[in-house]
Amino acid sequence: MTGFVIAVDGPAASGKGTIATRLGGLYSLPVLDTGLLYRAVGVLTERAGRDPDDPAAAAEVARALRAEQLEDPVFRTRGAGEAASRVAVHTGVREALLAFQRAFAAQPGGAVLDGRDIGTVIAPGAPAKLFVTATPEVRAERRWKQLKGQGEDVAFEDILADIRKRDARDGGRDTAPMRQAEDAVLLDTSDLSIDRAFDAARRIVEAARARWEAQSFSS
Ligand code: C5P
Repeated sequence: MTGFVIAVDGPAASGKGTIATRLGGLYSLPVLDTGLLYRAVGVLTERAGRDPDDPAAAAEVARALRAEQLEDPVFRTRGAGEAASRVAVHTGVREALLAFQRAFAAQPGGAVLDGRDIGTVIAPGAPAKLFVTATPEVRAERRWKQLKGQGEDVAFEDILADIRKRDARDGGRDTAPMRQAEDAVLLDTSDLSIDRAFDAARRIVEAARARWEAQSFSS
């Protein structure tokens, strides 16, 4: 029996990160925020004085990335999100990050991964898949409050524009575009508090786990 893998995909500020972390706590599973990998590649490419839109430069940085480098709080900033989405369009970058993510998902005890292509590309066989979303306005407000809390002084309209641009880029790229896997359950968190959203996610995952256990024990 392979481990229980939970794939949590969705756009920026949909609540998927918090949901993934809480699911990890509930099931005692390790959690990988895959956006952090792309954020790190974006920031480190810029830091090296190279262009995030240059596929070869960004892929080189991605191939050299080590897990120990992921702790930098700069990766959580608004600029890092933008740089991440620029490097994430390059096939070479995605290929360089693939093995690490797949190995994380293949841990014998199972894992939770959140991102954009977990249910479609990284772990297409995951027994539990969620696609977490919310309207761009709601997501922009959440992100705006979060950034303000971190001391970043930004206008709501600018954040909304960022979110729309990122959705278009992430959903429109050729390699591994953000989309709901056919067997993923859609969870719209627009009108839900984070506690209600987590509760809904938990129920979806519980049902998936019961199916997975029944299948695992009968085979
Ligand atoms: O989730 P987060 O906002 O941290 O992701 C930052 C960016 O990284 C996304 O906008 C997307 O371009 C890219 N990403 C991706 N595939 C993933 C996770 C993140 O392309 N699995």
